[in-house]
Amino acid sequence: MKLATVGTSWITDSFIEAAKKSGRLTFEGAYSRSEEKARAFTEKHKGEKWFVSLEDLASDSDIDVVYVASPNGMHGRQAEILLNGGKHVICEKPIFANLKEFKSAFKRAEEKNVFLFEAIRNIQTPVFKRLKKELPKAGRIRSALLHLIQYSSRYDKFLTGEVANVFSPKFAGGALEDLGVYPLSAAVALFGAPDDAAYYPVKLSTGVDGSGTLILKYDGFVCTILCSKIAHSQSPSEIHGEKGTFMINSSSNISRLEWMDSHTRKVESIDSDETENDMVYEIEHFANIIENRDIDEYRRLKKLSSEVVRIMENVRKQNGIIFPNDEK
Ligand SMILES: NC(=O)c1ccc[n+]([C@@H]2O[C@H](COP(=O)([O-])OP(=O)(O)OC[C@H]3O[C@@H](n4cnc5c(N)ncnc54)[C@H](OP(=O)(O)O)[C@@H]3O)[C@@H](O)[C@H]2O)c1
Repeated sequence: MKLATVGTSWITDSFIEAAKKSGRLTFEGAYSRSEEKARAFTEKHKGEKWFVSLEDLASDSDIDVVYVASPNGMHGRQAEILLNGGKHVICEKPIFANLKEFKSAFKRAEEKNVFLFEAIRNIQTPVFKRLKKELPKAGRIRSALLHLIQYSSRYDKFLTGEVANVFSPKFAGGALEDLGVYPLSAAVALFGAPDDAAYYPVKLSTGVDGSGTLILKYDGFVCTILCSKIAHSQSPSEIHGEKGTFMINSSSNISRLEWMDSHTRKVESIDSDETENDMVYEIEHFANIIENRDIDEYRRLKKLSSEVVRIMENVRKQNGIIFPNDEK
């Protein structure tokens, strides 16, 4: 299948590299608001054509799939244009800013008989899938602490007065949308939808959260999610069961899974993965769904993304974090 991209930052470079590695998507060309950038980016990745109009990209019969890596607040509008043109769309996390955008875009995908995916790479990795399979070994889950606490170089600039999109409500930014979405998606994929959720943000001057603590209430345990772009942590995320504890090295780049028995306290390695670019896994998964028209798996992923968007929208609104997307 032939691939085009939206967004010209490093994450799109990574996605194209992963697409090449997977052998499932062939890069054809890039869209950018600037013709110079669109051309340079396309040439850098040895594509054939470039676009400065999303409508032209949407109607180009050579393109099958479009990867969207623009600021969060743009995903909804851009995805609608591309779906309308009959393209499969792989949209970066967080897929949409709210449920209204989510429902509208998935309805459009259905009408056009194409697929729409959220690129949330952590849950597609083999180590995460192994964790899910091994989870019953822990016995009754009693708590979980999943986190993504990653100091952002863009925060240094923020402190000098330069506001990157990710710190702006205008582009549906903030720590929960940008980083919390990884551990939250992992929690929903592992434990299902929580009975209740509450968020305690640490807000920045722009009104979005620079960090925060999200509490997910489940039957018999609480899952605590910490996310931050204004501090840093090296410690693993943990799931605590009565029989033992699972530890993963990260909530976004999951490459190591360890287990500690509650009685012996012995730590053993269960799985590890040396892959440099884990976007390969999501690409393979999405390509399989499209090629095999695997509707069951498609619906499972859609339900998961929908639950994550629902929780994030509810808790941020409870805290007065409102995006322009909510008011449209
Ligand atoms: N999966 C991952 O590991 C991962 C990592 C990082 C980011 N992401 C996600 O990828 C997306 C992009 O993140 P990012 O940090 O790359 O964002 P960004 O740097 O703010 O913008 C990405 C691209 O969007 C375009 N853009 C920037 N400002 C825009 C505006 N005001 N209006 C329209 N287009 C604009 C630019 O492309 P042009 O100038 O060429 O138009 C830019 O290259 C986000 O949804 C983020 O959550 C995912």
